[in-house]
Amino acid sequence: MHAKMTKQALFSLSLVFLSLCSKTFGQPAQAPTQPANAPAQPANIPVPRGTPDVTKILQKAGGFTILIRLLKTTAVADQIKGQLANSDTGFTLFAPTDSAFSDLKSGTLNSLNNEEKIRLMQFHTLPKFYSLENFQTVTNPVRTQAGDTNPGDYPLNVTTAGSQVNISTGLVNATVSGTIFSAKQLAVYRVDKVLLPLDIFVPKAPPAPAPAPLPVKPKAKKKAAASPKSSTTTTTPHPTPTLVVDSGALGLTKHGIPVSVGISLFIAAFSL
Ligand SMILES: *[C@@H]1O[C@H](CO)[C@@H](O)[C@H](O)[C@H]1NC(C)=O
Ligand SMILES: *[C@@H]1O[C@H](CO)[C@@H](O)[C@H](O)[C@H]1NC(C)=O
Ligand SMILES: *[C@@H]1O[C@H](CO)[C@@H](O)[C@H](O)[C@H]1NC(C)=O
Repeated sequence: MHAKMTKQALFSLSLVFLSLCSKTFGQPAQAPTQPANAPAQPANIPVPRGTPDVTKILQKAGGFTILIRLLKTTAVADQIKGQLANSDTGFTLFAPTDSAFSDLKSGTLNSLNNEEKIRLMQFHTLPKFYSLENFQTVTNPVRTQAGDTNPGDYPLNVTTAGSQVNISTGLVNATVSGTIFSAKQLAVYRVDKVLLPLDIFVPKAPPAPAPAPLPVKPKAKKKAAASPKSSTTTTTPHPTPTLVVDSGALGLTKHGIPVSVGISLFIAAFSL
């Protein structure tokens, strides 16, 4: 009787011990609170008082030096900021990390001319604020800032499964790996790949019968004349390829002349 009790006690003790062991060693100390591949929680970036500036946000987040440089040299950062101030639909930026850029075949960026660099940056920008939940009901293809939803107009596709969000360009499948910022009509998501648009990286076979010129919005010219005092670089919804805003055009902005005037001059110069 006594021996039997001891055996039973030993048995249950060892069960307790085993279960403790498996708790401690058999599993990670903290069970993950999110499903695998779900985007990480928003980075702790303070919401600015005024219009958010994507380059400052990316700087705070860290690990986006190449993207920041491209957004600045193409002036797409200014374009987003200028339009964000007047937008009630907002913007979404897919932000590839430095390691995403370093995964590109070498020379990929250098092979692009300035127009293509602008398009590449605009391709990472959606002219609408999307929360992660919004992507679940999005209709493909999705319009990017580089064009429209038609083939040849730089669309991309977004697919979701639970809280996981994937982006497909036709050349690249990328995954949203985190929210960097989501406030004031601006969403910035970390992506693990550079979104290479078909329309740049796959040469078109035969030239289309009537090659449509890249959209030049007459609005941009009118607005420039109408509001010469505008201090921000607004009203350039689809900059023409000639808007290769290097130091020259940016210099103009600094002196109070809107970039769109620069474009008009540029266009005028070209049409002579
Ligand atoms: C997203 O991409 C990952 C990695 O390529 C893949 O495993 C997953 O099934 C994809 N999910 C969706 C919703 O497309
Ligand atoms: C994007 O989605 C549209 C509509 O579902 C589909 O026709 C198209 O093939 C997709 N493109 C890519 C690159 O996944
Ligand atoms: C992207 O994903 C689609 C659908 O899962 C697949 O058919 C395609 O081969 C993938 N493309 C690349 C470049 O990985």
